[in-house]
Amino acid sequence: MRLFLDTASIDEVRAAARYGVISGVTTNPSLLAKEGGVSYRQRIQEIASVVDGPISAECVSRKADDLVAEARELASWHPNVVVKIPIDSEGLEAIHRCSAEGIKINVTLVFSANQALLAALAGATFLSPFVGRLDDVSYDGMELIRECVHLVETHDLPARVLAASLRHPLHVAQAAAAGAHIGTIPAALIPQMLKHPLTDIGIDRFLADARTAGLI
Ligand code: G3P
Repeated sequence: MRLFLDTASIDEVRAAARYGVISGVTTNPSLLAKEGGVSYRQRIQEIASVVDGPISAECVSRKADDLVAEARELASWHPNVVVKIPIDSEGLEAIHRCSAEGIKINVTLVFSANQALLAALAGATFLSPFVGRLDDVSYDGMELIRECVHLVETHDLPARVLAASLRHPLHVAQAAAAGAHIGTIPAALIPQMLKHPLTDIGIDRFLADARTAGLI
């Protein structure tokens, strides 16, 4: 499973990039709203100058014609832009029209296997099921990841499953085990994924023994 960073913060992107584990970035209006009025275009271009991979930028239009026009605009910002479109009937038409033009689409706010199937058939590049938000309403978000992976693999669909709304390290490990092709994670999850108390204890013990052995 590849990892994308779920953020509109250029500082978080720069900090995570030094580890070499992030191969794309996803943004949305909620993440941009935390960035103090920065222009969306400028921020996407800044991110694209740091991470050489798919950078998702989300449409806010609600009609198919407007979504297509907005998607063309977002896609013009940088060759690595992937346009996010929420899945509903207007969105589905826009996904089909944009994909036919060669604009890569990340279909967002996916909460069922049927939504994922329709999005994949319409030409989506990425399907983004939201794990945490399903958990929030007492459904098993990870089961949806398993269903979507099974769907695209069984029917040989080209869309990739991008596990979104991952909230904690167990979500990441479970999404990988479920076969998600990508997981998009908040920056705070990287140190949480890294940390293990036995690693810290082991380093302390090696250092103590290295002192005893005269190595340091
Ligand atoms: O990737 C989608 C993500 O930004 C949503 O996360 O925590 O708001 O459900 P959350």
